[in-house]
Amino acid sequence: MQSIKAEQIQKSCFSLIGKDWMLITAKDGEGKVNTMTASWGGMGVLWGKQVAFVFIRPQRYTKQFVDASHELSLSFFDGDYRKELTYLGKVSGRDCDKIKECNFDVAYDGQVPYIAQASLVITGKVLYAQTLDEDCFIDVKAISQWYPAGDFHTMYVVGIDDVLTK
Ligand SMILES: Cc1cc2nc3c(=O)[nH]c(=O)nc-3n(C[C@H](O)[C@H](O)[C@H](O)COP(=O)(O)O)c2cc1C
Repeated sequence: MQSIKAEQIQKSCFSLIGKDWMLITAKDGEGKVNTMTASWGGMGVLWGKQVAFVFIRPQRYTKQFVDASHELSLSFFDGDYRKELTYLGKVSGRDCDKIKECNFDVAYDGQVPYIAQASLVITGKVLYAQTLDEDCFIDVKAISQWYPAGDFHTMYVVGIDDVLTK
């Protein structure tokens, strides 16, 4: 992988995240790694830094890993990995070694794990985390549409440290 600047990312994040999906990968205090598919989030600028932001529901096993290390990667894929991303977005790492089941390999950017088969990887540190607050919704329809079980996402703002591409 070679390092590029965030502004050199060619594809729009509407395609990268919303259409093609990404894997959020993190490790816990014992070095165990977990990953999950995500299609909600974005990239931009905040507090004078280039950031990515992702939204993780409380029941995701990956959330424990992100909360333990406060570091994560976002892995994006070229080619036909839809089957794997669908699987990783359905099965929990609590129940099996799902990374191995997909024949994916874990690589590291310093301490931060990512999926080696990715064509684009963003790594960074969590700068801010906050669970969405029911009282803050201006569009209250979103509450019944997305949170009938009250499982509000936590929003993570991640300061981008590295962008790696093949
Ligand atoms: C296309 C797709 C997008 C998803 N996006 C998100 C997301 O943005 N946030 C989230 O919390 N879960 C999202 N999920 C669900 C998780 O990927 C899924 O629950 C996964 O099995 C969690 O794995 P874990 O328990 O090992 O962390 C998505 C699933 C799919 C298939």
